[in-house]
Amino acid sequence: MDLQQLDQFAKKMIFEAGQRIRDSFSYDLEIETKSNANDLVTNIDRETELFFIEKIKIFDPTHKILGEEGMGENVESLEGVVWIIDPIDGTMNFVKQHRHFMITIGLFVDGIGKLGYIFDVMREDLFYAIAGVGAWYNDSPLRKLQPLKIEEAVIGINATWVTPNKKVNHEKLIELIHTVRGTRSYGSAAMEIAFVVSGKLDAYISMRLAPWDIGGGTIIAQEVGAIATNLQGKTLDFLSTDTFIIANPSIHQLILEDYIQEKNE
Ligand code: IPD
Ligand code: CA
Ligand code: CA
Repeated sequence: MDLQQLDQFAKKMIFEAGQRIRDSFSYDLEIETKSNANDLVTNIDRETELFFIEKIKIFDPTHKILGEEGMGENVESLEGVVWIIDPIDGTMNFVKQHRHFMITIGLFVDGIGKLGYIFDVMREDLFYAIAGVGAWYNDSPLRKLQPLKIEEAVIGINATWVTPNKKVNHEKLIELIHTVRGTRSYGSAAMEIAFVVSGKLDAYISMRLAPWDIGGGTIIAQEVGAIATNLQGKTLDFLSTDTFIIANPSIHQLILEDYIQEKNE
């Protein structure tokens, strides 16, 4: 498998899709809700996913595609070559702010992450990695993450989880927030992951993410030494939704042990 050739193909396709999304602001969006009133999807999410599927199927019809909007096939295993695609991560930001949304794509071969991309569509910033070769932010190589103390960390977390909720002990998370230097919440899981792999955040925690939210980002994580697991510290399977943490290796285990207490354990 020629990863360099696939990387060139993937980048060209991502830049072209980004241009199409930016152009879409000149016409009306069709906005619908999915699982709940705050779970949005637009015609542009669907059109962008279809654009990727068409390009990939022309490139190689044997490749499988797992996309958030379900326009690809029903992927039940990661056997063979599988593209995991979120055409727009941060749809609420896309609709409301016209910024801070990402295209994110991971390419897996027999379950092993090989190529990962997170593209900030409005800033035209690309975070990407080729497994075993390296990771980049545009043309600059991303460095291995340097150790830090929890007191120096800036972490990404949604405010919901520090209010009483069914999933996690919020009191422990309040302690975490009092311990770290600062918190941020950007509204795009892929953006928060991109910030962790580039050292702009030191951890990002979520109670529920799908394979397409994290597929691309976790491949970049491997190249810089960031650790991505579920909140029990277990490996992610990229076929089901799960809890999620990505962190600088010096604080990953500490956060899980001292500050995360799931309620359904
Ligand atoms: C969502 C965003 C959001 C995260 C949600 C995701 P979408 O993805 O990444 O930040 O909190 O869990 O579903 O729906 O905009 O692709
Ligand atoms: Ca998403
Ligand atoms: Ca999406």
